[in-house]
Amino acid sequence: MKQINIGLLGLGNIGTGSYKTLEMNGGHIRDVVGLDLIVTRILEKDVDRKRDITVSRGIFTQDPDEIWNDPDIDVVVELLGGIEPATSFMIAAMNRGKHVVTANKAAVAANYEALTDAAARNRVMFRFEAAVGGGIPILNALTTALSANEYEEIMGILNGTTNYILTKMSEEDLPYADALREAQENGFAEADPTADVEGEDVANKLSILMSLVFGKRVRPEDIPTEGITKITKADIEGAKADGCVIKLLASAFKRGDEITCFIQPTMLNRSHPLASVGNEFNAIFVKGNAVDDLMFYGKGAGPLPTGSAVLGDVIEIGRAIAKGAAFDLNET
Ligand code: HSE
Repeated sequence: MKQINIGLLGLGNIGTGSYKTLEMNGGHIRDVVGLDLIVTRILEKDVDRKRDITVSRGIFTQDPDEIWNDPDIDVVVELLGGIEPATSFMIAAMNRGKHVVTANKAAVAANYEALTDAAARNRVMFRFEAAVGGGIPILNALTTALSANEYEEIMGILNGTTNYILTKMSEEDLPYADALREAQENGFAEADPTADVEGEDVANKLSILMSLVFGKRVRPEDIPTEGITKITKADIEGAKADGCVIKLLASAFKRGDEITCFIQPTMLNRSHPLASVGNEFNAIFVKGNAVDDLMFYGKGAGPLPTGSAVLGDVIEIGRAIAKGAAFDLNET
C-alpha cells in the first residue's frame, strides 16, 4: 500500500477538523482507496491548545523549512489562513517539489497566478477544493465532469457564517451578535469574522470560481461587494411580512467577453430554491451551455465538511503519486 506523508501547516480550526477526519476515516481510506495517509509533521505554535484529537508532540515544529526540506513529505497541506505567510509558504513548498493542498480562499484569490504558475513550473499538483463551498465538491465538478461546458452564469450562497446569522435572525429571532457568536463557536467563521460579514470571504470565493469557469481573473477587490452588517431586525421582519427571506447572494454572468459580478443581500421569495438554504449550508447554481442548470448544495463551512474536501484533494494527489502520474522533483 502506498504511504502518503503529509506536512500540515496550521492546526487551528480547519487543521484540527482535517486531522480529525483522517482519524475517523483513515482506516476506511486504506481499505477502499488503498492509500495510507499519515501526518508526519505539523507547523503550529500553539502546541498545548486543547483539541479533540490525538497528536504526538514530537511531530510539531516551529520551523516551516523543516516541512519542505523533509524529503519524506509528499504533500503540504496549508491551513494557516490569511494571505501571508501562507502564499510564500505554499510557493516555497512547491519550489521544493511538494504537492500542495489548501483551504485558503484569501491566498488563492489574491495570488491565483503566482500559485498556479509555481505549480506548473515545478510540475506539482496544487488543489484547493476546500476554499470554495466547504464540503461541496464544486471545483472538482466544474473542472472534471463539467469541463466540456462553456459557462454563462454562477450564482449562490457562498458563506456559511452569514447564512447562519441570517437564518437565526429570521427563524429564531436571535440578535445579530448572538448568531455571530454561535457561528464562531461552531467553527464556521474566519479568525476575523469581518471577512465573513463584510462579504470579503464571498468575494474571494467568487473570484476563484470565475477564474475556473470563465477563465478570467476578476480580483476580489474589483467585485462590487456589500455584506450583511447593514441588515437590521426591521429589514428581516419586513422581508418576512412580504413572504421573503434575505440571503447574501453572489452572482456572476458572462455575456460574450463581458463579465458582470456582484455580491449583495437580496430578498428572495420563500418559494425560491435558495430561500430554504439555511444555517451553514451553501448552494451554488451554475449554468453551462451544454448541461444547462445545475445546483450544488451542502455544508459550506465547519471543520469536518472542510476536512472532507481537504482530504479529498490529498487523496487525488495520493492516487496520482501511486500511479506515477504526479511528477515529484524529489524523485528526479
Ligand atoms: N468562514 C467561511 C464561511 C468558512 O463561513 O463560509 C468556509 O469557507
